[in-house]
This record gives sequence, C-alpha cells and structure tokens, in this order.
Amino acid sequence: MRPNSIVVTLYPIFVPMSVQGPIGIFDSGFGGLTVLNSIRAVLPDYDYLYLGDSARTPYGTRSFESVYEFTWEGVKYLFDQGCSLVILACNTAAAKALRSIQQKELPLYASQKRVLGVLRPTTETIGAYSQSGNLGIVGTPGTVTSKSYLIEIERFFPELRVYQQACPMWVPLVENGEHLSEGALYFVEKDLNRLFERNASIDTLLLACTHYPLLAPIIEKIIGDQVQLVSQGPIVARSLQDYLKRHPEVDDNCSQTGSMEVLTTEDHLKFESLGSQFFGAPFQARHVHL
Ligand code: DGL
Repeated sequence: MRPNSIVVTLYPIFVPMSVQGPIGIFDSGFGGLTVLNSIRAVLPDYDYLYLGDSARTPYGTRSFESVYEFTWEGVKYLFDQGCSLVILACNTAAAKALRSIQQKELPLYASQKRVLGVLRPTTETIGAYSQSGNLGIVGTPGTVTSKSYLIEIERFFPELRVYQQACPMWVPLVENGEHLSEGALYFVEKDLNRLFERNASIDTLLLACTHYPLLAPIIEKIIGDQVQLVSQGPIVARSLQDYLKRHPEVDDNCSQTGSMEVLTTEDHLKFESLGSQFFGAPFQARHVHL
C-alpha cells in the first residue's frame, strides 16, 4: 500500500428493523387496569405491559411538575421495555403531561414512538350520551383544575353545559380497598350533592378517573337510574382499535401473542390482591424500580 493512500472500508449499511413489542399501559396505580380490561376485550391478540406507579399514587393531588416528571419516567420505562405505543390510562397524567410529552419529549427521545391518552377519545364522543345537554364530570383535583375536559369538550360539543366536581377523597378510598365502605358512601354522596346542586338536570355523569368504576355501585345508588353513568374503558378501547386500523405503521410495531404482564412500583402481592378487583380476574404482578 502506498504510504499516503486513503483506505476506505465499505461496511454494509444495516437499516434497523422495527422491533415489535407490547402495548404499554400506564397509570398512577390500579385505575388503568379497568381500561386494560376493556382494551383486552376488544383487542385480545395484542401483548400488553401494564405499569402502575402505586408507590407514588395518588397523582391527583400532586403538582403539575411532579405528575409530569413521574409520568415521563413511567413512559420512558415502558419504552425501554420495548413498547412503541403507550396509553396513559390515567386522566390526571393525560391532563397534565400528555401534550408536553408528545410535543417536547418524543421528538427528541423517540420520534417513532407514540403516547396516547384517555381524554381525547372521551371528549370526542361524550356529547352523544346526554339528552338534556347537561353533563356532569367527576375527577381528581388535578384533572378538574387543569380544565382539560372543559377545553376539549368545547371544541367538539360547544352546546354542551359541563359541570365539573373535584373528588379528592375518592382515589385514596379506592387505593386502600375502602371503596364499598360507609366512609366511601359519605364522601361520594357529599361530592355528588355538590355537583347536582349546581344543576339538577344533569342526565349524564362521566367518571373522568380510571379508579372510579370501582365506586360505581355506590354512585348508582346515589344518582338513581335517571342519570347515565359513563366509564371510559369501553370508549378508550374502541378508540384504540380504530387508531391501530388508521395507523398501520404503529400497528406493525405491536406484537400479537396475547400476553399480558403487570408491573408495579409497590409491593406486588398487595397490587395483585386489590388489582384483581379492578381487572376483574386474578393476575400476577412484578415489582420494579423506575
Ligand atoms: N386513575 C387516575 C386518573 O384517572 C387516578 C389519579 C390519581 O392517582 O390520583 O386520574
């Protein structure tokens, strides 16, 4: 070889194949299991990886900064486990963190990955439920003060009159397994009375927190059968099914062997025991550190 010649070695160029992984479902604790249950009923062939941040629940009374930081940590963890698509099955996380994650974090961190929430599917369909045009919404203080529901519903159903009620005690009651107790009845009745005092013609009540379906028996007892109760699980499941049909590039990255794994940042035995009530069936959970 001549002394000053430049040697160019040609290596084959590898175009990375997209690696398939489970659909990630994130919640501050147990609540997202109600959504996972509905999603699996509609899309049983996909693989799912659920992460419940029970060690730091509830999110609903925390600051914007904390919810944002915890949610992004959870989403990154799910990405690192191979998820290309993550659903924030938590209204508080979706209300406070989703938009910034989509607009600020994803373009820098992982532009091929997707994060979706529960607000949009709910707000674009909720108007169809009410006959009187008066909608009640119950949610965590974080969701209610974010005004995300008011802003989004105004875009899709400007004629709807929306009344929100923050219910700070509901998630702690559910997370502690007290959702059918006298104490739960007391707090649920108190908050619902406040809501219906503002408009007695509310005919539809949206449970804008994925923990609340467990309180449905008590809520129904209080509101009676003249008010329709709407849970988000089936709405989110139908919307995801539609999304995957419209986005084959995302669908292709979602593996389909029908598996499900559940992770928690808290004690796994406690998570399995109460979590099975949310999920509707027993399951095994694994403890992880974020
Ligand atoms: N499941 C969450 C939601 O939908 C509960 C939030 C919390 O941890 O307070 O908002």
